[in-house]
Amino acid sequence: MRVLLAPMDGVVDHTMRALLCQVGSIDRCVTEFIRVTNRLLPSRVFYRYSPELKHNGLTHCGVPVYIQLLGSNPQMLAENALLAVQLGAPGIDLNFGCPAKSVNRNDGGSVLLQDPGRVFDIVQAVREAVPCKTPVTAKIRLGFNDSSQFHKNVKAVVDAGADELVIHARTRRDGYKPPAYWQQIAQVSVDSPIPVIANGEIWSVDDYQRCIEQSGCQDVMLGRGLLACPNLSQQIKACYRGEFCSALKWPEVCQLLGSAFFNTLEQYETKHVGGRVKQWLVYLKRQYPEATELFETIKRHNDPELYQQAFSQSIARSA
Ligand SMILES: Cc1cc2nc3c(=O)[nH]c(=O)nc-3n(C[C@H](O)[C@H](O)[C@H](O)COP(=O)(O)O)c2cc1C
Repeated sequence: MRVLLAPMDGVVDHTMRALLCQVGSIDRCVTEFIRVTNRLLPSRVFYRYSPELKHNGLTHCGVPVYIQLLGSNPQMLAENALLAVQLGAPGIDLNFGCPAKSVNRNDGGSVLLQDPGRVFDIVQAVREAVPCKTPVTAKIRLGFNDSSQFHKNVKAVVDAGADELVIHARTRRDGYKPPAYWQQIAQVSVDSPIPVIANGEIWSVDDYQRCIEQSGCQDVMLGRGLLACPNLSQQIKACYRGEFCSALKWPEVCQLLGSAFFNTLEQYETKHVGGRVKQWLVYLKRQYPEATELFETIKRHNDPELYQQAFSQSIARSA
């Protein structure tokens, strides 16, 4: 049974991957999507999205980080996939799920689910371009406006030779609105010749259990749930083994937050790093009341010293 960390554009970058993998029990990460148009991207783009390429495509804890590509030109996706592999990517993931208007207007992401033939061509071209030993995976939604093409899209991915398939159990029209329709995944997961990984709306161990039951999957991919509860993966794996693991206490989470802030100070402008921390706090508010208080304290500030003070006070108050 595996737990994957979901790609999240603008949220889960290499710093976040490193932190969440350090907490533990994550089996694979995927980068934010890299948009491919009509050219071979310079290597620096791949290194920017995945500094892990300099370490064999692994996080510091040894978790593989697949490169996610988004685009519609099979040949260009294939060439960029090959370059990513030559730079050290341990696997390639193809994005057929992005719902953003700006992306869909440019013929990328979930819009491709309207035409399973195009999904097939893309997966096949990438599969043929990269070495057999490099996994090629695809991430889809149930469909674009509805799920009428769902089975055909799954067949396209499988027939084109993908190694695994992640299904975000909603259509593009559903956006991120609950619920996720896990039971629809069961229509394809049960007889699938490749592993199918369930994704969407898993915020707790309870959700995980219902998702597994309804989707017929063994493996799950977690996005927002892992940001709201950074050791959700540990809790889920403990549950799978028939054991219990409690959620991290606030001081531990706050330490992580502190690392997220101070580890990235050298890489980004302070105001951007502050933005990332505030963004994470918004997810944490769902699970930790202390996050609301800390958010209120820092929301108008970008001064590292004030942050340090605020983190220390928040830890002291809840210890
Ligand atoms: C802010 C944000 C950014 C996302 N970026 C990506 C992305 O770059 N690639 C991708 O395949 N999915 C992306 N997703 C979708 C997630 O990977 C995931 O499928 C979705 O959030 C549902 O899972 P969850 O309920 O566990 O969060 C993004 C989602 C969010 C909320």
